[in-house]
Amino acid sequence: MSNKAILEINGQKHEFPTVTGSENEVAIDITSLRAVTNGVTTIDPGFKNTGSCVSEITFLDGEKGILRYRGYSIEDLAEKADFLEVAYLLIFGELPTKEALGKFHADIKSESVVDDDIRKIIDAFPKSAHPMGVLSSLTSALTAFNPSSVNVDSQEDMYKSVVRILGKFPVLVAWAMRKKQGLPLDYGDNTLGYVENVLKMMFKQPNEDYVQNKIIVNALNKLLILHADHEQNCSTSTVRIVGSSHAGLFASISAGISALWGPLHGGANQAVLEMLEAIKADGGDTKKYMAKAKDKSDPFRLMGFGHRVYKNFDPRAKIIKVTADEVLNDLGIEDPILDIAKGLEKEALTDAYFVDRKLYPNVDFYSGIIYRAMGIPVEMFTVMFALGRLPGWIGQWREMRLRKEPIGRPRQIYTGSTQRSFESVAK
Ligand code: ACO
Repeated sequence: MSNKAILEINGQKHEFPTVTGSENEVAIDITSLRAVTNGVTTIDPGFKNTGSCVSEITFLDGEKGILRYRGYSIEDLAEKADFLEVAYLLIFGELPTKEALGKFHADIKSESVVDDDIRKIIDAFPKSAHPMGVLSSLTSALTAFNPSSVNVDSQEDMYKSVVRILGKFPVLVAWAMRKKQGLPLDYGDNTLGYVENVLKMMFKQPNEDYVQNKIIVNALNKLLILHADHEQNCSTSTVRIVGSSHAGLFASISAGISALWGPLHGGANQAVLEMLEAIKADGGDTKKYMAKAKDKSDPFRLMGFGHRVYKNFDPRAKIIKVTADEVLNDLGIEDPILDIAKGLEKEALTDAYFVDRKLYPNVDFYSGIIYRAMGIPVEMFTVMFALGRLPGWIGQWREMRLRKEPIGRPRQIYTGSTQRSFESVAK
């Protein structure tokens, strides 16, 4: 392929270089566009054709259904790795040695206490508050309690902020759930692995010991890995753009949580389960809901289907479907919701509407079924997604800061009124 692109505007030709990635993806570098064309810009709502950065973290090929973190396939990592290893890989670029992983975990554990005054903030929320709103607020509040975390002028300062948020975030996740359930807010157990500790913090009853279940630990480890990064999606782009103003890591992550909350992004896992429940309550007629999804006058969409980038099977969905079967079998749970999900998938995969638009199940289609089997309430599903996505957000924010990327500030094309004079209301 040629390494230049030519654009003709008003009879004048302008040449732009192209950039080729390590997987041969090609982009036209238009950084000089406005300068050489006297102010002409591009317009691309939803950034469907716009690359916002170059990145070494995650590669995905939506046509072929490939996802790799730092070159390692998602299938390999989900099968063999530990979530904290994957976090290290995403953030620092290489898999850790045993010693490096031990130090990383020890540093995270040394930061796993949050200021007790944060309880007062939690207490001010109504019990009905959605835990994503609570989590976003508390993550933002972490800056107030750790003001030095805003200084990331050295790699050392940056490392401190990274381990601090990895240590404190699971506590906030657990507290967001426990507050809703009226359970006391407590800390975990630093003798445990990261994932085991999360589970204990979430589920420990005040009057009972918490007994770990290996099936649940393994399933959560896998789910967190599958959610850990997905290149420049809505929440990650938010984290990078907020961080590009040199707002701190915690403020940037808090903004990412808000972006993830919506049902078109991370909130889809909650929406999927609510949809499956509604279909079940309505007699389990999947055909009726398929028809609704295809009807353009009906706002209903088949939640958990379709993806901005994947026009093939989401490789994470394939892994999660198998895991859902395993977890339900191992735990001896029969969930009619799983049958409805499988029925919908089967119909959609052979339906012309879905086939023509290349709409396949995405990561969220089956994850809620596993979370439900683990005893996690539906409103916490997107919070679990945020917990998994945290290392990806951190890695992307760190990459953006280390590359000294400029502040994110898109252009627009103004279509409002041209100049007019003010008339006083009396007139
Ligand atoms: N059900 C029915 N029709 C759909 C669906 C769906 N789930 N998704 C897309 N379509 C249709 C659209 O109506 C549109 O049809 P048209 O061409 O006749 O107008 C076509 O497919 C293309 O859809 P867009 O919305 O343009 O695709 P886009 O890339 O902008 O959106 C998105 C992707 C937001 C994921 C969309 O597929 C969707 O809303 N899915 C349901 C929500 C969901 O599961 N979100 C989770 C995504 S994964 C994640 O964020 C972790």
